[in-house]
Amino acid sequence: MKIVLAYSGGLDTSVLLKQYILAGHEVVAMTANLGESDMVSGEGSQDALEAVRRKALALGAKDAVLIDARERFIQEYAYKALAANARYQGVYPLSAALSRPLIAQLLVETAAAHGYDAVAHGCTGKGNDQVRIEVGVRAAAPHLKTLAPLRDTPLSRPDALAYAQAHGVPVSQTAAKPYSVDANLWGRSIEAGVLENPWNAPPEDAFDWTATPGTEPAGGSEVIIAFERGVPSMNGRTGADLVFELNRIAGANGVGRIDMIEDRVVGLKSREVYECPGSVTLIEAHIALERLVLTRDELRTKAGLDQKYAEIIYDGQWSAPLRGALDAFNAQLAQRMTGEVRLALIRGRAVVTGSRSPFALYDESLATYGHGDRFRHDAAGGFIEIWGLPVAAGAAKAAAAAERSTPTLV
Ligand code: ARG
Repeated sequence: MKIVLAYSGGLDTSVLLKQYILAGHEVVAMTANLGESDMVSGEGSQDALEAVRRKALALGAKDAVLIDARERFIQEYAYKALAANARYQGVYPLSAALSRPLIAQLLVETAAAHGYDAVAHGCTGKGNDQVRIEVGVRAAAPHLKTLAPLRDTPLSRPDALAYAQAHGVPVSQTAAKPYSVDANLWGRSIEAGVLENPWNAPPEDAFDWTATPGTEPAGGSEVIIAFERGVPSMNGRTGADLVFELNRIAGANGVGRIDMIEDRVVGLKSREVYECPGSVTLIEAHIALERLVLTRDELRTKAGLDQKYAEIIYDGQWSAPLRGALDAFNAQLAQRMTGEVRLALIRGRAVVTGSRSPFALYDESLATYGHGDRFRHDAAGGFIEIWGLPVAAGAAKAAAAAERSTPTLV
């Protein structure tokens, strides 16, 4: 077969690549740069990932492609989620979940470019990622065959290491790490190892991007996020560059650590630890601006739809038309989402300390308790009279009924 393999360079997909090649298949390794290694090396993630590409070729891949998808990931996936303030179960900014439909799309594009007829991934049968990738591939290219060898034949860590040893697959240092980690610019997820017991506090070595509580700078950092029709920027930084910078600043202040019990698509509960400094900060800022410019009814309606949006992403339904419909709703409201939000990033928290917008519905001369108050206090009495009419009518009926049924004393 001619297979495009989603290749991270890690132990599992390296073993997979070698197995395919030894079985006589022709394999193209596809590696997507979603900004994970920017967070590790600071700069030059394309150069860092070039080593992953060369590793695939050394293992015998017919071709190996490294796709810089950072900007596409942020613009076409993360910022749509930001417009919906998307956090699964109210907490997790969906970093891994958002990346899978893009990876699926890149697999499809790579298969088309090479004229291949199958794609493969290294997801296990227990997780959400297999669902997200395969639904994404089916939506974009129903004719492609999707292979999930580690689902069909799970590979234990010792077996993978033994195979690597026997077949000259280089094992990197990270394979020794006691966690399963997935990361991109929108966040980093940490699973397995000692975290599997939900009573165990996450050890400090689980975290890479966020400062240990107590070691953050005492005064914190102040940032101002500007939004232009819903699209954020900070001091001229935009897109992937902005998210990278916010990860750095917010992470140094310990912002964005999450520890939760999560409900997976496949029905089981899992213990998940995340660090998402940049995305958490952007979502907090976005929510603050919405509160300033949207009406109460818009906010109420949007809250329900936002929750649905997060579930769509989590559940691997990115390609469903409902997602596009909700994007259109969010885009309509984003016409007024222009303004600035100031946040204090301090001791693990992103605290909004100010907001302003030309579209603000907040009006100081109506809200003030000081001089210059323009609110019609005299109109409030009449408003309450009519607003409370149904409640008053109901209460009167209930009182009359209680009167009729009161037993009389003999
Ligand atoms: N539980 C998270 C999610 O479903 C994180 C998944 C991380 N994926 C991974 N292969 N380690 O989105």
